[in-house]
Amino acid sequence: MHRILRSLSVIYILAVSASKTIFEKNGITFEKDKNDVYSLSTHEIRVLQSGSVSDIEDMRMLYLLDEDFTDMEPGTFQNLPNLKMLIITTNTLPKIKTGIFNSLTNLTLLDLSFNHISYIDSNAFDNMTSLENINLSNNQLTSVDSHWFESTPSIKYVHLGYNQLTEIPANVFGNLKSQGDLTLIFNGNNMTKIHKDAFKVLGTISVLSNQLDTVTGDFLKGLEIDILSLRDNNIKCVKKEHFDTVFLANATDISENPWTPECLTEIKAWVKEHNKLVKYES
Ligand SMILES: *[C@@H]1O[C@H](CO)[C@@H](O)[C@H](O)[C@H]1NC(C)=O
Ligand SMILES: *[C@@H]1O[C@H](CO)[C@@H](O)[C@H](O)[C@H]1NC(C)=O
Ligand SMILES: *[C@@H]1O[C@H](CO)[C@@H](O)[C@H](O)[C@H]1NC(C)=O
Ligand SMILES: *[C@@H]1O[C@H](CO)[C@@H](O)[C@H](O)[C@H]1NC(C)=O
Ligand SMILES: *[C@@H]1O[C@H](CO)[C@@H](O)[C@H](O)[C@H]1NC(C)=O
Repeated sequence: MHRILRSLSVIYILAVSASKTIFEKNGITFEKDKNDVYSLSTHEIRVLQSGSVSDIEDMRMLYLLDEDFTDMEPGTFQNLPNLKMLIITTNTLPKIKTGIFNSLTNLTLLDLSFNHISYIDSNAFDNMTSLENINLSNNQLTSVDSHWFESTPSIKYVHLGYNQLTEIPANVFGNLKSQGDLTLIFNGNNMTKIHKDAFKVLGTISVLSNQLDTVTGDFLKGLEIDILSLRDNNIKCVKKEHFDTVFLANATDISENPWTPECLTEIKAWVKEHNKLVKYES
């Protein structure tokens, strides 16, 4: 049995490598599989220069994983009409400049997670009208810029987890109004403050998590939220007069917080009376 499985997997690997095409374009050697998923074939490039990934009609997905890129110049990506997913994780990019991604108006997913990004230009994502998914997690961002998502009307999922964010300022997600459901993820940050107008004109937040020690729900007023996660914070109690704003979401996860027993008893009674769904333990 074991032997059969082993020989099957060998056949599989041969089939995969047989379906790969290797070719050079603009001085870079690409590998392309039968689904038009591209990656680099050699791994010595540190800086992607203007025009280095350009004029490839059938490129649908590009994986630039673990390449040790230290920089990308504006104009790196040009004329890639079918590019939908761009994955640049596990590199050491320190910043994202304007002019790198703006022409990718058909791109739906941009994954920049696991880099060293501490700065992103205000206009870095301008005109990315199809962008639905952006993953900026596991970087070194200390602030969120309210201009980033001003002209990304399709955005649905913003992952900002595991950065060094300490607050969400007023109106930072103010330009995402009426785009339907939005998932914002902030877990693994050292968030002590969420401005009361942080999400002023936003429709729906699905997940929000941080390291708050007090929460009044000010920042939730007027919002419609399916799931709010306050999991893994440092909250001991919520004042009773704030229950209706803090527990505004259909479901709230308050697990992994140092709640006082008195406070939990009060919350449980209130939650029962108001027919809310609250998760107390993970
Ligand atoms: C976006 O896709 C459309 C349809 O496939 C194509 O005609 C257009 O050139 C693409 N736009 C860009 C900027 O690549
Ligand atoms: C966005 O599009 C507008 C209108 O075409 C253009 O003027 C502007 O330079 C673009 N922004 C960026 C950052 O490319
Ligand atoms: C980043 O988020 C996207 C969803 O937008 C997900 O598909 C991807 O796996 C995430 N990247 C990593 C490295 O976890
Ligand atoms: C989080 O912030 C607090 C207060 O500013 C600080 O004392 C603590 O060291 C920070 N923790 C991390 C992991 O950055
Ligand atoms: C959340 O509650 C609102 C109001 O009760 C309801 O209209 C909506 O469908 C609920 N959403 C989910 C995902 O249950």
